[in-house]
Amino acid sequence: MRLRATILQTPEADTLEVLEDQVIDVEGDGTITSVAPAGMNNTDGAISLPPDTVLIPGLVDTHVHASQWLQLGTGLDLPLDEWLFAYTFPLEARYADTDFARRVWVDMVPRLLAHGTTTAVYYTSIHRPATLALAETCVGYGQRALVGRVAMDHPDGTPEWYRDDDAGSAIEASARSVEEIRQVVGNHGLVEPIITPRFIPACTDELLTGLGQLAADTGVRVQTHCSENQWEHDYVLDRHGCTDTESLDRFGLLRPNTVLAHATHLTAEDRAKIASSRAGVSHCPLSNVYFSERVFAARAALDAGIPVGLGTDIAGGPEPSLLAQCGHAVGSSRLLEREAGVQATGRRIDIVAAFWMATVGGATMLDLPVGLLAEGRRFDAVAINLNAAGVGSPFEHPDGEDPGHADRANNRWSRLFEQIVRRTRPADITSVWVDGRRVVDNR
Ligand code: GUN
Ligand code: FE
Repeated sequence: MRLRATILQTPEADTLEVLEDQVIDVEGDGTITSVAPAGMNNTDGAISLPPDTVLIPGLVDTHVHASQWLQLGTGLDLPLDEWLFAYTFPLEARYADTDFARRVWVDMVPRLLAHGTTTAVYYTSIHRPATLALAETCVGYGQRALVGRVAMDHPDGTPEWYRDDDAGSAIEASARSVEEIRQVVGNHGLVEPIITPRFIPACTDELLTGLGQLAADTGVRVQTHCSENQWEHDYVLDRHGCTDTESLDRFGLLRPNTVLAHATHLTAEDRAKIASSRAGVSHCPLSNVYFSERVFAARAALDAGIPVGLGTDIAGGPEPSLLAQCGHAVGSSRLLEREAGVQATGRRIDIVAAFWMATVGGATMLDLPVGLLAEGRRFDAVAINLNAAGVGSPFEHPDGEDPGHADRANNRWSRLFEQIVRRTRPADITSVWVDGRRVVDNR
């Protein structure tokens, strides 16, 4: 495939790259073989995007509870520990019914694709068949995904009507889930399993030990919640005498590409440990408003060398759009700056850094060849029509004015980029590709 378009992307957390009128060559398997300015020799057979349409890399949502899709936007009146028992565990228990699960998955996956989420890192429920069904649904709709059966067996941290029977059966179920996802969908390369201890309060030490061993044996990535709020942080200090990060490390769960959701209560030592383990953080800024007392110190994490991705945390976060999380990441960093009581602009995350997290940051944390439209990466991309403007007035397009003033033109691109990130809705998204395949077509 050969596509001709203008690309907006963020190779570094402080760099907006505007590549006007490029030709992108994509191999049959979805790998980008070249990105070069359109010229005399490379435009043959190219499909041109309309001039009012730009291309961005596909979005990587690093934290999604697929099984909570039906309560998206509701039930945020309780603190985390009560919310789990009152709303979330009863809903997740329903995924024992695999037909029910399938009906949810076929609603959710195409909707997330329509928001530009080309990669999603999913928690399902404790149920193996529902988990496998999500993996199959992702392959069917062409969404790149990591899919994890939730492991949880602790008699205090879970209700007796929704938990694994015991540590042994939980480890066995997670191992089988990894195996069957690999067997059923592994050859597509699009969907992989991920080992998913829910969080320390929901897991016995025996389960955490077994899942650490499973990760070591299989090389499969791990995801969990880490130091999400004061209650959870204190619980782990009390039970294990150390922070979540330290505890997860002792159980062998802090590994390269481990996804730690929230991480709002990290110490400087935690940050150093996460960085040296090559694990990463899924920053879920909107969810943190509801369940954490603190803003995640994203700048401190980046400065410590931690890869940071963005997450919606559906349904702890009530908004399915990862682009919307970019705005929340910017906004919450401003609260952090105020909290410091000084002009601590060093804590700021701007829209470019936030978009970097939503693309390159997530891809780096997961070690997936996506996040940028560049040679050697997979072609996961989102086309945005600047004149569709689902909400509000049209985007300001930089074409045509002051062609000789590069600085002013660049400035206009950066303002346009900010508008695109903050205001794009599914109605503005005309096409989405994953692995070179068009999976959303609203032309
Ligand atoms: N901690 C343990 N389970 C959950 C969950 O489902 N959502 C959030 N936000 N935090 C959790
Ligand atoms: Fe979560």
